[in-house]
Amino acid sequence: MVIPVKKYTSKPVDELQKRLLDWYDASGRILPWRIRPEDRAKGVVADPYKVWLSEIMLQQTTVPHATPYWEKFLKRWPQVGDLAAAPRDEVMEMWAGLGYYARARNLHKCAIVVSEDFGGDFPRTEKELLKLPGIGPYTAAAIASICFDEAANVVDGNVERVISRLYKVEAPLPLPKSKKEIKVLAGELVPSDRAGDYAQALMDLGATICTPISPKCLECVWSEWCSAYVADVATDYPRKIKKKATPKRYGVIFVVRSKGELLMRRRADKGMLGGTVEFPASPWDDKSATDYPVNPLDYAPLEADWTAKGIISHVFTHYEVNLRVYTADVTRLPLKNNADWLNVSEQSLINNDKAEQKLTTLMMKVWKRSR
Ligand code: ADE
Repeated sequence: MVIPVKKYTSKPVDELQKRLLDWYDASGRILPWRIRPEDRAKGVVADPYKVWLSEIMLQQTTVPHATPYWEKFLKRWPQVGDLAAAPRDEVMEMWAGLGYYARARNLHKCAIVVSEDFGGDFPRTEKELLKLPGIGPYTAAAIASICFDEAANVVDGNVERVISRLYKVEAPLPLPKSKKEIKVLAGELVPSDRAGDYAQALMDLGATICTPISPKCLECVWSEWCSAYVADVATDYPRKIKKKATPKRYGVIFVVRSKGELLMRRRADKGMLGGTVEFPASPWDDKSATDYPVNPLDYAPLEADWTAKGIISHVFTHYEVNLRVYTADVTRLPLKNNADWLNVSEQSLINNDKAEQKLTTLMMKVWKRSR
């Protein structure tokens, strides 16, 4: 297919900015934490607490999945000081199901720093925001631009895809060389005016038009400048390094029931799922777990009449875990009130709708399998 290339001699950067902002004004997504351009023009400003919360939740998570969590957090903790004052375990429970639990721990830490060191007001610059726990380059730039209109260079996975297509960046992701090149190219396009709307527009373009698999190039306001589109190779970008096969890990996990209660424990703070609640299990999360334990019942938390319930699998970023599930009913939980153990009411899990669940997705799978 031959597509005419628009020859531009004037200022293409101005034109790209204008086209994107016009598109955003007309077609940008309506999101609960977002101030629409017409309201911004009237002087309505974004609340940094709400924006921060949304940006942390949206890392690695889709808008439909994150939105109920965002609403639930704000209802429970309307101000950053409320979140700071909450018990950490409560924050972890409210986060359960969103994954990447280090983010929840840092979220709580950050709320405490903002409340105690900044009197409840988030810092207003990218540079200062970057010093806060859990706020990396992307989040600092996003908050600074969305809330304070700083001309920060906001680059997430969506933006990387758009820019790599616009310029046919040949270095493959996620190599640092490629990330750096994309960041420089993206930075050259950031406008000094309406920087926050521009950042959100670019992310929306990536999320709704310049999508990974079937980009809607015919609807894209940048297509005539897009090198990959013009060459009819949009989906060949971003170039990617071939992924190695996902390593597999193995373990055995035990669901003990007694009179409507489940025997659980809290994981140590560090590492995978740190600070979350789990069923007792063999160690499955380190590199040595390369096969199922030869004698699985050696890891049982107590003597009981165990029933095997098959295997559940769950994929994390860097590995897949496979757990053999065993269950047993016992007359009482012998370790009740022991500091290591938690007794979780099964009815509370049955009653709770998805947004209210207390367990991680992995533990929900185990629990469901055990029933
Ligand atoms: N994805 C993550 N943050 C976003 C935002 N502020 N706007 C659009 N998409 C996003």
